[in-house]
Amino acid sequence: MNRKEFVQQSFFGLTVFATGVGLAQCLGGCTSSTAPTDVDITLDLTAPENAALKQVGGSLRTNGIIVARVAESEYIAVQSACTHEGATIRWQQSANQFQCPEHGAAFSRTGAVARGPARTNLVSYTATINGTTLRITS
Ligand code: FES
Repeated sequence: MNRKEFVQQSFFGLTVFATGVGLAQCLGGCTSSTAPTDVDITLDLTAPENAALKQVGGSLRTNGIIVARVAESEYIAVQSACTHEGATIRWQQSANQFQCPEHGAAFSRTGAVARGPARTNLVSYTATINGTTLRITS
């Protein structure tokens, strides 16, 4: 085997190995999203850009997080990227869950997987209301 053949065979072997590793990871549940960390966000609920939260059932996305108003004085927050392949999830008040429009995954209020293909829970955050100020923290 000359040098050229060695390099070609080594590259081929490395490619096959890398593909195999990638497939093995996907069979275990692909995840391509990362959840925000060290979160500390304050939202002024009187500000026009936060108007979506004025009504129960409303939601908005900010800094990789989706915030939903689920009751008169109750807000919840989870990462906005689906743990399946990273599509942006949305809050569905009538179903009382977060849903992903890409492949149909659903998550509970706390971000727990309720329906696949997602296998990993969403990261949830603490939402604390104080007057007209909503604070979202890790
Ligand atoms: S990206 Fe959400 S279910 Fe596939």
